[in-house]
Amino acid sequence: MIEKSYKDAVDFVRAVYGTTEFISLHEPKFVGNEKAYVADCIDTTFVSSVGKYVDRFEKMMSEYTGAKYAVATVNGTAALHVALRLAGVKNDDEVLTQPLSFVATCNAISYCGARPVFVDVERDTLGMSPKSLKDFLSKETSRKNGGCFNKATGRKIGAAVPMHTFGHPCRIDEIAKICDEFGVPLVEDAAESLGSFFKGRHTGTFGRMGVLSFNGNKTITTGGGGMVLTDDEALSKRAKHITTTAKVPHQYEFVHDEIGYNYRLPNINAALGCAQLENLPRFLESKRKIARKYEEFFAGSSMAFVKEPPNSASNFWLNAVVLKDRGARDQFLRETNNAGVMTRPAWRLMNELAMFKDCQTTDLSDAKWLEDRVVNIPSSAIVSW
Ligand SMILES: Cc1ncc(COP(=O)(O)O)c(C=O)c1O
Repeated sequence: MIEKSYKDAVDFVRAVYGTTEFISLHEPKFVGNEKAYVADCIDTTFVSSVGKYVDRFEKMMSEYTGAKYAVATVNGTAALHVALRLAGVKNDDEVLTQPLSFVATCNAISYCGARPVFVDVERDTLGMSPKSLKDFLSKETSRKNGGCFNKATGRKIGAAVPMHTFGHPCRIDEIAKICDEFGVPLVEDAAESLGSFFKGRHTGTFGRMGVLSFNGNKTITTGGGGMVLTDDEALSKRAKHITTTAKVPHQYEFVHDEIGYNYRLPNINAALGCAQLENLPRFLESKRKIARKYEEFFAGSSMAFVKEPPNSASNFWLNAVVLKDRGARDQFLRETNNAGVMTRPAWRLMNELAMFKDCQTTDLSDAKWLEDRVVNIPSSAIVSW
């Protein structure tokens, strides 16, 4: 093993980014038509819910991802909330998800009045383990009236929500097959994986619906924004309807036919999104180059670089390394952050947070193993290349 110190890692990140200044984890880059499109919104006054950019952004996103329909929302959390509701998740249902995720996944489940049930992740993909999912569904649930019910609680399994962690695709084809077999609707949390493909198909297009995020820290940003992806026309229409306060279209009357949400993406944010999406291929190319450099640097050291999973093209949203143990992780975090190179641990597991600590779980050994060891390292695209 070629031992490398954490100081070597700091120096390497500095060499990649070519700076002695503070290096953040992920920052947005505005290098194309962003200013022109946003200025167009201001000049025409169409900054809010009406304007051409929302439709254009949705069309571009549907073409890029291959999803038949794309519905833009104010953020990824809102997109997840709507997708779960439209997948049929109801009060008192349970939703299978992974404990290694950003809190938004579980928050959206909770907004539906449902409870998360946590199944383990895999060490190589960092995403939901098909084996853990299948074990849980086979042993802990039974089928009745076309649904799948938890034997212990009697509650319906309303959906399964795997997540493509840090942009690396999980084994989504196996997960989709298992969900089909057990009659559980699949909603993919692809918030982190715009530009990531599994077996040539874009993440977020394997289930009934998938969800993207365009938060400021993501591969492309709209300031704040999200998207529901689906191949189902009826679902896309419902998504558009309930995200626009369920207003019945009319020239001047204000009639709403159910309780809806004010979740539509404003035109000014969509304008930013159109310009950012034009830049996506350039961002992805740069991020792949950076990942390759990291992979070479960390090879053979005690810091194991998280590689692109099999059968996948990753967007390398946030690069990650796996340290020897929790002590090594904490030391790495201290040394790098003290040296002005931003790094961060993986999220605290969801089942360890006060709100979700009483939720049912499978054995979560691999999630715990990863929580103790994973750190993210600077991953912004370099646009001067
Ligand atoms: C896994 C995951 N799910 C959902 C979200 C929610 O997206 P947003 O911040 O746009 O609400 C994010 C990111 O922020 C995320 O990383």
